[in-house]
Amino acid sequence: MTEQTRIELIKGNIIEAKRFGNPSITENGYIAVEDGVIAGVFAELPERYQNLPVSDYTGRLILQGFCDMHLHAPQFPMLGMGMDLPLLDWLKTYTFKTEARFADADYARRVYRRLTEELVKNGTTRVCIYSSTHADATLVLMEELERAGVSGFVGKVNMDRASGECQETTEESERETLRWLEESARFTRVKPILTPRFTPSCTNEILDWLGKLSQERGLHVQSHLSENRAEIELVKKLHPDCQQYWETYEKYGLWKEKTIMAHCVHSDEREQDAMIRHNVLCVHCPDSNINICSGFTPVRKMAERGVWLALGSDIAGGAQLPMLQVLTGALRMSKARAIATEGAEPFLTVGEAYYLATSAGAKYFGDAEGFAPGNRLHAVVIDDGEFPESTRTLTTKERFERAVYLAGAQDIVAVYGDGERIR
Ligand code: GUN
Ligand code: FE
Repeated sequence: MTEQTRIELIKGNIIEAKRFGNPSITENGYIAVEDGVIAGVFAELPERYQNLPVSDYTGRLILQGFCDMHLHAPQFPMLGMGMDLPLLDWLKTYTFKTEARFADADYARRVYRRLTEELVKNGTTRVCIYSSTHADATLVLMEELERAGVSGFVGKVNMDRASGECQETTEESERETLRWLEESARFTRVKPILTPRFTPSCTNEILDWLGKLSQERGLHVQSHLSENRAEIELVKKLHPDCQQYWETYEKYGLWKEKTIMAHCVHSDEREQDAMIRHNVLCVHCPDSNINICSGFTPVRKMAERGVWLALGSDIAGGAQLPMLQVLTGALRMSKARAIATEGAEPFLTVGEAYYLATSAGAKYFGDAEGFAPGNRLHAVVIDDGEFPESTRTLTTKERFERAVYLAGAQDIVAVYGDGERIR
């Protein structure tokens, strides 16, 4: 006999980012979930689901789970500190020292348990996350993510040049990467992704080795690109044969389908076109770009030109872990550009930014947009009952927009990750 299908029905105001634009709203509708997989979104409950128990969130808002497509787990201890220096000085002065502490796997366990709990509380159910150079601490991070119910990609960082307290030898970097990959095979919700930190931290030898490894094993790659002007100048000096920064990754086989590049603040149209051609994902990290004075990313223009864009907290360059804060940060950044260009560059709408924080990242994991049938359920239930009383009855779209700006962990009453309730 086959086991019975586990059916879950979830009722509430369902808000889906089916496109880069206005969200689709189903008021007091149902999401039917079979064995963790969405079977459909329904305004009325279909006959076949009658008389089954319902998780009833009538009147509340059901949003898609958030995808944080770029953050640094070992920077969690420095959250909210040391944002008085630009990127290269910030790395040398604060960041490498902090990350070096993760040689201690017990310390890593404590920090990563707290971090993963905070992710879930804030509705982040999928991540593409950097660890430190340490294979053991990276395995601890993978364990803690799985334990909390968060899925995604995790990278042991490679850095064998100009990396202060974090510096590895090339041999050590390769050996530890192979050991980490071997031990990563036991995880189901989290998968490894190759993570050369960024061109200035890597010798040509390690870039070449990682490029070949990625091709041989079909592994994805994440790194940083064109975040800061001094960084771009440094890359030019290190690779005079490359016309642009992205070509330092291309030269070693790291620039390919589904490569993730964080920031791209200063990428011009030529660099953006290279992203479009290769289906590279650009992760916009607005809070970080402001905190360490990297610049104003032309996020809406990039989206219009067809660059695949998603959002990242970039902890701890970014000081906001909740993706709702990152989402509103993206709105503010795009408005700063609209102001500076006197409207020549239109700003993002709330619906567009919601798409970037959810469906755009979910596509990286193979999902279709919105709560599409076939996707595993990733959802966040928000109770807006504690917000200020309004002068009139709000539409569901107005309530959604207000929740995007005002909701915090205290207003998130349920979280579903990878088909299961995780909070
Ligand atoms: N570039 C290389 N490493 C880092 C990092 O840790 N944070 C940010 N924001 N940029 C980087
Ligand atoms: Fe980063």
